[in-house]
Amino acid sequence: MPQRIPLVLNVNAEDHEVFVPVHKTLLEVLREDLDLTGTKHGCELGECGACAVLLDGEPILSCLALPVECQAPAAIVTVEGLSNGATPHPLQVAFAELGAAQCGYCTPGMLVTASALLDETPSPSREQIVDALSGNLCRCTGYVKIFEAVELAAERLRASTAAVSV
Ligand code: FES
Ligand code: FES
Repeated sequence: MPQRIPLVLNVNAEDHEVFVPVHKTLLEVLREDLDLTGTKHGCELGECGACAVLLDGEPILSCLALPVECQAPAAIVTVEGLSNGATPHPLQVAFAELGAAQCGYCTPGMLVTASALLDETPSPSREQIVDALSGNLCRCTGYVKIFEAVELAAERLRASTAAVSV
């Protein structure tokens, strides 16, 4: 029997107690123990970005992370945590509107990675978007719609921030 350890993971602003084998990856724990299946299994080698989640606001590859390294109070955010209740994140709206998600397999990783970029850089250049998403592979879209969707979401987020501060 593999050794199991008790851990508390803060995922999408809620603490979860888990009792998991030490070798299980964060990706496996999110999907299999917490039923958060939005985060995708891709290469499991750190090469595709499908498994990206945020740890304290920074994108990490959950297929290469061990839960013991991500314990509360560190805050994990998955694609399920991007929306604000029933209101989707502006990135999710823009991806849907511009057809930036086709098969959708890369989309959760793209969304969380792009959300970290927009939190840090509200007006990113196309070059900064390309650079931020360079570790996220997409087999379907040719990337242009994804980059345009990030630009559209950034524009809308800036407009809503300006409206709140007036
Ligand atoms: S599944 Fe983690 S990088 Fe591909
Ligand atoms: S939409 Fe299919 S892999 Fe990106």
